[in-house]
Amino acid sequence: MLTVENLTAFYGESQILHDVSLAVDNGGRVAIVGRNGAGKSTLFKSIMNAGPRAVGKILWNGVDLGSTPSYKRVRAGLALVPEDRRIFGHVTVLENIAMSQYGVLAGETPLDPESVIQRFPMLVPLKDRLGGQLSGGQQQMVAVARAIAARPRLMMLDEPTEGLAPIIIEQLAKDVVTVCNENEAGLLLSEQNLWFAKQCTDRVYVIDTGRIVFEGDWATLDENADIKQRYLAV
Ligand SMILES: Nc1ncnc2c1ncn2[C@@H]1O[C@H](COP(=O)(O)OP(=O)(O)O)[C@@H](O)[C@H]1O
Ligand SMILES: [Mg+2]
Repeated sequence: MLTVENLTAFYGESQILHDVSLAVDNGGRVAIVGRNGAGKSTLFKSIMNAGPRAVGKILWNGVDLGSTPSYKRVRAGLALVPEDRRIFGHVTVLENIAMSQYGVLAGETPLDPESVIQRFPMLVPLKDRLGGQLSGGQQQMVAVARAIAARPRLMMLDEPTEGLAPIIIEQLAKDVVTVCNENEAGLLLSEQNLWFAKQCTDRVYVIDTGRIVFEGDWATLDENADIKQRYLAV
């Protein structure tokens, strides 16, 4: 279980997150939704200790992660798919996925890249193509496949649908739900696409200017038209 308690985060002197608290149960699926610049990526990077200066508590299965470096957080079962995806351009799709062996949960063997590819229908014909020759949607699929191959306990996807075509977004929603279920991985998802977030998660937090302004299930958010209007309407 991931628990974030009163997290504040800074870039230099500027404070981006203000007292953010949230929780994701084991195997739970939670969305963080909010406008551009609300602090979603800063939150994810803080959870991974990958950039911002974070103050507050981040507990993973009850253990305070303190100053644990990013690579150890990965090997403890946290996998971040960053918003820029970070696909290696000069190696193949299959080799990109095989990289996950370096981030595998301690004591486990990574999933076989070939078998992971079978879970993503779009990737099957692309497995020998170079990462640099993929479309944005294909790169996003590879990034998710690479994350899941490390057998994380919690997969963190930072705005995976950004810039993707609607048909790809639908396919991605199916694939994300399937691989999380099959691998008993939890999901922490940041999104501006509410349709996608709703497909993939049960609970939702709304973040605005670095503060959590709503927490609940999707039905409750739908009942709160004013919150949607104030914090999520473009
Ligand atoms: N590396 C950085 N240095 C300074 N400010 C940053 C940096 N990254 C993001 N910010 C600022 O932090 C705020 C939150 O950004 P971000 O977490 O990327 O939001 P979101 O992911 O919700 O779009 C924005 O005001 C942004 O300009
Ligand atoms: Mg972002």
